[in-house]
Amino acid sequence: MTVLITGSSSGMGKTTALFLAKRGFSVYAGTRYPEKLQDIKEKNLHPIKLNVSSQTDIKNTLMNIPKIDILINNAGYGLVSTIEDLDENQMLEQFNINVFGVLRVCKAVIPKMRIQEQGIIINISSFLGKIGLPLLTLYNSSKYAVEGITDSLRYELRDFDIRVHSIMPGFFDTNFARENLVTNKKTFDKNSPYFKIVSTLTPQILNQINSGNDAILVAKAILKIIEDRHSPARVTVGEKASKFIPMRRELSDEDFERRVREYYHL
Ligand SMILES: NC(=O)c1ccc[n+]([C@@H]2O[C@H](COP(=O)([O-])OP(=O)(O)OC[C@H]3O[C@@H](n4cnc5c(N)ncnc54)[C@H](OP(=O)(O)O)[C@@H]3O)[C@@H](O)[C@H]2O)c1
Repeated sequence: MTVLITGSSSGMGKTTALFLAKRGFSVYAGTRYPEKLQDIKEKNLHPIKLNVSSQTDIKNTLMNIPKIDILINNAGYGLVSTIEDLDENQMLEQFNINVFGVLRVCKAVIPKMRIQEQGIIINISSFLGKIGLPLLTLYNSSKYAVEGITDSLRYELRDFDIRVHSIMPGFFDTNFARENLVTNKKTFDKNSPYFKIVSTLTPQILNQINSGNDAILVAKAILKIIEDRHSPARVTVGEKASKFIPMRRELSDEDFERRVREYYHL
């Protein structure tokens, strides 16, 4: 079976690409930087240039892959900013990659899957796709959107035997906090009126990501979804997701918010 993964040069994307390639899947590892994967000697792993914001990249990728059985929408990054400090370009870019990137690649791949009358789409969302947090409004809302995309596509594609799932990881120790968190300068200024919340929350989040779970858990969850056609619509992976998502389902909005405030001292 042939797999296309986006954002494959590090973290969950790279780990999953290798994990599946070693198990015999033909994996097209989409990345802005194929050279970063050049040294990997794995015959089933094919690095391919793919920036999810580029229609040209998406078109070329599709032309170079004869058949796609499984699409894993993984590319994403986080913006940390208050809303009042938000810069228009930062705002648009967060959704451009995390949301429209998913939609663009889906739009290109779905016709192939529809003609094949089978396919699996797995969207890497986040447990923050069900939880609001200050300073992460753009990131969290982008992941809420990914959850909505998953739910809607499940109806739209069912007749063609295309399964759609989301994975909601908790915090994972990848390049996410080290390289792919974009911070707004004004928000992090010492004179910002939000300094209290910034200095309370951000060290906790960074620490939790950098001491988070191993990306291999996500790779294993993806394989399980591929192998079991009765897999649930959304799967939680990792400690924080297993803690918060069941709580989110059980508690009222207000009680849940209280628990999150207590947990992060907000
Ligand atoms: N780490 C966590 O705690 C955590 C928790 C929940 C959900 N997630 C989600 O999991 C997914 C994978 O993240 P990760 O933790 O594996 O982090 P990562 O190591 O930073 O990998 C994310 C990948 O996304 C792509 N990407 C990042 N910024 C981009 C941009 N501006 N334009 C285009 N592509 C971009 C990059 O791929 P290339 O450089 O290869 O192009 C990058 O390697 C993301 O969607 C993230 O939101 C992460």
